[in-house]
Amino acid sequence: MARLTLAALGLLAVIQSSFAQRGAGNCQWAALRMQTDIYIESQTYGEVDPMLVSNSPLYRENYKQRDINTSFLTTPLKIDYTRTFVDQRECKTYSQLIVTDPKNPYIIGTQITYDNIGSAGLKAKIIDVVISRPSTEPQFNATKTLAYVDAEDWSAIVAAKQDSRDLLKIVANSYLDLWSGNDNYELPWGTPCARLEGSEYYTEECQPVSLNGKANTDRMYVIDEGLGAVSVFSKGGSDGALLDIHEFRLVQGKLRYVHHFTASDAVLVV
Ligand SMILES: *[C@@H]1O[C@H](CO)[C@@H](O)[C@H](O)[C@H]1NC(C)=O
Ligand SMILES: *[C@@H]1O[C@H](CO)[C@@H](O)[C@H](O)[C@H]1NC(C)=O
Repeated sequence: MARLTLAALGLLAVIQSSFAQRGAGNCQWAALRMQTDIYIESQTYGEVDPMLVSNSPLYRENYKQRDINTSFLTTPLKIDYTRTFVDQRECKTYSQLIVTDPKNPYIIGTQITYDNIGSAGLKAKIIDVVISRPSTEPQFNATKTLAYVDAEDWSAIVAAKQDSRDLLKIVANSYLDLWSGNDNYELPWGTPCARLEGSEYYTEECQPVSLNGKANTDRMYVIDEGLGAVSVFSKGGSDGALLDIHEFRLVQGKLRYVHHFTASDAVLVV
């Protein structure tokens, strides 16, 4: 009887701790943030920190699989700016990295999917990096981009005023569907709504101008309700070889910021 009770208590403790772990999703916010710091440090030093990855992570650069040990992640970078979205439900993060180094400037978007390996903590199992450079982004100027994003308000939204995950995803998807001329859904434009295209900043409205008749495909999402933020990687352009990094911020149901950077699916040689 005593044994049973102890066993039952043990089980209860396991259940309780797994609930505590879950918080608002499947992974703890602080643990995801900590892994992001390790990722950014890895990229800064050009060394893959074993704390970051599982034994055989899937690493993709511009949608193409590469060996992580010889990838862009092994190029040391002087990173001037970062912003991170945390998706507790899907155990994912998105980070934007801005490098203004005049010789090799980059705007980098990275989505990482983690495995929750119990006592070993979180380990990156899929790393997707999309890299925008002067040769792939017609309006590239990392210094200008940094000044614009740095001036924006991306502060956390109090729980009572957060928009739902579903709404965030609908708005992001509907925006990307605009390219195809599909305007079934009335987007909740904020007034104002600021749109950043590479390094060009439009402060009045966010409606994109050119429509090519095709919806973006191969979409990958990171959704952060706490920031009202969505990151989407997708493929677009007439031949599907253009890669798009989009960032959205919604505040109390209204679209406030749209950021868009382009890359190409060509293999990157550094
Ligand atoms: C990368 O290097 C680490 C550490 O040396 C090694 O454990 C891992 O197997 C390597 N990964 C690949 C894909 O070769
Ligand atoms: C980027 O923009 C800054 C600020 O407007 C400007 O001083 C700089 O010359 C631009 N750099 C390039 C490479 O065009």
